[in-house]
Amino acid sequence: MRPLLVLGMTLSLAAPAQQPAPQERAASAVRDLGLLLQQLLGEELKRGGFEGAVKACSESAQVVTEQFAHERELDIRRVSLRYRNPKDQPDDYEAARLKEWEAAAKAGQPPAERFETVTENGRRFLRYMKPITVQGMCLSCHGPREKLAAAVRDVLDARYPRDKATGYRAGDLRGAFTVMVEIKP
Ligand code: HEC
Repeated sequence: MRPLLVLGMTLSLAAPAQQPAPQERAASAVRDLGLLLQQLLGEELKRGGFEGAVKACSESAQVVTEQFAHERELDIRRVSLRYRNPKDQPDDYEAARLKEWEAAAKAGQPPAERFETVTENGRRFLRYMKPITVQGMCLSCHGPREKLAAAVRDVLDARYPRDKATGYRAGDLRGAFTVMVEIKP
């Protein structure tokens, strides 16, 4: 793909393989979007600390994701049962998988990625979901509200008045990457 220019930064990846199968397209899209978002966060933390990064993420996470989906010609997003951005609200299929993973985690089973072929309005799609787990560094913006830096909390309050994405602990299921690829006959 072409390098993406975001807020004056160039985010880039090696070119994908030629015409891979739907499973490989979905899995590599998740891997690559994950890398891009990590780069974005890492660069912004260096530039502006957590306060700068929280602003930058709120301005760029959706743009990067949408541009990436367009380039790869598939649907890809991040979703969560406790979403920060209402655009990341899961559909019924995604919500069901996230709930299954949460139930499994309670029983001591780590969530595992999942591929499934579904038919919608006579068209076949591969659906792929990969869990996203909370790590220590995520807590600066997704941890318990009272532990967030005041500057971060102010940005969140202003931009996400109905934010559900705080109160996590390291190891919690945060959400998922989710992909839909049409399977052409
Ligand atoms: C600097 C603050 C910051 C840090 C650190 C951070 N996030 Fe976020 N996160 C945000 C913001 C802001 C959004 C909303 C972006 C948007 O509007 O699309 C978000 C959204 C998300 C979403 C999309 C679902 C939703 O709630 O809208 C996921 C998943 C997510 N973050 C996971 C993580 C994980 C995992 C980490 C640690 C590796 C992490 N975040 C670290 C600020 C942060």
